[in-house]
Amino acid sequence: MYTEKVMDHFEHPRNVGEIENASGMGTVGNPKCGDIMRIYLDIDENQIIRDVKFKTFGCGAAVATSSMATELVKGKSIYEAMQVTNKAVCEALDGLPPVKIHCSLLAEEAIHAALWDYAQKNGITIDGLEKPKDNIGEEEEEEDY
Ligand code: FES
Repeated sequence: MYTEKVMDHFEHPRNVGEIENASGMGTVGNPKCGDIMRIYLDIDENQIIRDVKFKTFGCGAAVATSSMATELVKGKSIYEAMQVTNKAVCEALDGLPPVKIHCSLLAEEAIHAALWDYAQKNGITIDGLEKPKDNIGEEEEEEDY
């Protein structure tokens, strides 16, 4: 049911962890299942993503898509990172079962939320970037970050 790439990224996820004093951090929730993903970006003065880490409290497809998404944005500019859609992540994994496509949305949304945070902190706007949806329950919002 899952491709080899999905299984590889699920069993050996890349870039798991946190970045202290991250340039941008985004936490998003999947309203369909309640799973949560957080992405940390370390962005240099040239707006290049120097490092990226993630934590996912979610299903295997969510872990695999976060892992692949971090690989796709690492070393890229913030504008290139905007092109890393859930479709691009799915393609890079050689596909996901149709019932799991919604899981890959978390990765795209988490990257966008982290970019939004970075943009807010630096007083810039990133073309095409929209304010992240607030679809995490109140309990998660009160968590100490
Ligand atoms: Fe929740 Fe996959 S089932 S993200």
